Amino acid sequence: MRLLSITLLCLHAVLAFDYQAKRAKIMRDESLMSIGGQIELTDKESNVNNCLMQHKFQEVDYGFSNPQYYNFSRHFFSYRNIIPKSKAYKIIRDMPKGGALHIHDMGILSPDYLLNITYMENLYVCFEKRDIKLLFANKTPEAKCHTTWQLMSEARNNSRNVTKFDAALRSHFSICVNNPDVIYPSIKEVWDAFMGYFKRVAPMMTYRPVWEQYFYDALEKFRKDNVMYVEVRSVLINLYELDGTAYDQLITAKTYQKAIKRFMKANPDFIGAKIIYAPARNVDRVKLGEYLQLAYRIKADMPEYFAGFDLVGQEDLGNPLVEFLPQLREAAKDLNYFFHAGETNWYGTLTDENLIDAVLLGAKRIGHAYALPKHPSIVKEILENDIGLEVNVISNSVLALVHDVRNHPLSLFIAQGLPVVLSSDDPGIWEADPLTDDFYVAFVGVASRLADLRLLKQLALNSLKYSALGVKEKDLAIAKFGRQWDDFVNNFDCSRYDQ
Ligand SMILES: *[C@@H]1O[C@H](CO)[C@@H](O)[C@H](O)[C@H]1NC(C)=O
Ligand SMILES: *[C@@H]1O[C@H](CO)[C@@H](O)[C@H](O)[C@H]1NC(C)=O
Ligand SMILES: *[C@@H]1O[C@H](CO)[C@@H](O)[C@H](O)[C@H]1NC(C)=O
Ligand SMILES: *[C@@H]1O[C@H](CO)[C@@H](O)[C@H](O)[C@H]1NC(C)=O
Ligand SMILES: [Zn+2]
Repeated sequence: MRLLSITLLCLHAVLAFDYQAKRAKIMRDESLMSIGGQIELTDKESNVNNCLMQHKFQEVDYGFSNPQYYNFSRHFFSYRNIIPKSKAYKIIRDMPKGGALHIHDMGILSPDYLLNITYMENLYVCFEKRDIKLLFANKTPEAKCHTTWQLMSEARNNSRNVTKFDAALRSHFSICVNNPDVIYPSIKEVWDAFMGYFKRVAPMMTYRPVWEQYFYDALEKFRKDNVMYVEVRSVLINLYELDGTAYDQLITAKTYQKAIKRFMKANPDFIGAKIIYAPARNVDRVKLGEYLQLAYRIKADMPEYFAGFDLVGQEDLGNPLVEFLPQLREAAKDLNYFFHAGETNWYGTLTDENLIDAVLLGAKRIGHAYALPKHPSIVKEILENDIGLEVNVISNSVLALVHDVRNHPLSLFIAQGLPVVLSSDDPGIWEADPLTDDFYVAFVGVASRLADLRLLKQLALNSLKYSALGVKEKDLAIAKFGRQWDDFVNNFDCSRYDQ
């Protein structure tokens, strides 16, 4: 009897051990499968990691115990201003992040930058009921205005309080508000505000001297945020001069080339930049044909600066890719595609199905791919063909796809080790950093509590791996990144982040 109970006890222990071993194996397998799971950290990197994780745990664990104060479950606008206080944030800001592969040119720089542009000479303004129009010209514009065009300098001088005047003007250059859940109750209101921004600022920004400087300054801003490579999407609007002369769209593209060359000369540690021609998707086939012709012209003219083609605009309202199949299939042999696809919550719609067409059309990367978890076959294709997924968490939260970022599908992408790159879409319009805010929210708010520096390093490496850089360029880029990474790791001092 006694012997039997001892045997049973042992069996119990063996079974318990077996259970714990299985449990540990599952945890280990999942960790290995996740993005960065295969990376092994050096001693110096572990040193950074310990510091980073200490701060991350503090933030996450405080939220776990006090969910009523947890900020990532709220709207980005409610915690945007306190992010810079986070120590995990500061470490990520100083960390080399590789490249930003999904950004739109007119949405990069801050409202303060745009406000500065309004101090330039020859800018006219038309104040309408709730909106403004802006245009550079050497005489009063003839464009429609429901009130009257006046010189900005005179309007400002005539205002009784310039601080107040500028604050009102600045509010037109951002969609940030104090009460987003009231002002933007659905995707419609926030997209209206978002598109309103582009419509308002485009005529000011496409004045040739402004445009030429803007992109240079945008690259500067990225570099300061420790981002060394950029693939920028552009609608490529025609630039103009004060006398109304308008240039061919190819000139707009060439302006980029000029700015990039000038920037590289001044900053040899920078990796570079390329453009993706990304015009509006709510057009007919004839117009799409014109788009493709322009894409071919740009490619012929500046092949080393041209990454490829995309279509933009609120996906639910524009034409689905399937509408343009014959033309897009034909051009697929010559153009690299980087389609926005699946930026929607509407399961089973044509927008949702854009994911299927993006993959079948041979896209090199997919913009957002927010709806991807609903398409297991496409997940398989993504893995087999190694198609990059450009994830923009803050954009998805601001543009009303997800409220609590813990529910963002990026957590699934990370867990399954999908080819993710993080980007920021239009950070200037919601007053975020060029890239650090997105890395921070993804790392602390979306990824596993246990995800560490290995995830961040792999995401940075992915941004070069899935870039449109050529084979040789890519090797050089990865070498440059390696040097920056080593500098960061070797000079890391945890105590610097203490105060
Ligand atoms: C959340 O944000 C508020 C300000 O918006 C701040 O006072 C608070 O400390 C933050 N909570 C946490 C847990 O960081
Ligand atoms: C705006 O212009 C002022 C004065 O030239 C400058 O100090 C400031 O840095 C500029 N701000 C931005 C955001 O470019
Ligand atoms: C600014 O306004 C004042 C009167 O309000 C006027 O005397 C002055 O000439 C104006 N200056 C400019 C540059 O328009
Ligand atoms: C100008 O407007 C700002 C912001 O509305 C306000 O804080 C300031 O007191 C005003 N200045 C004067 C002189 O009225
Ligand atoms: Zn986008």
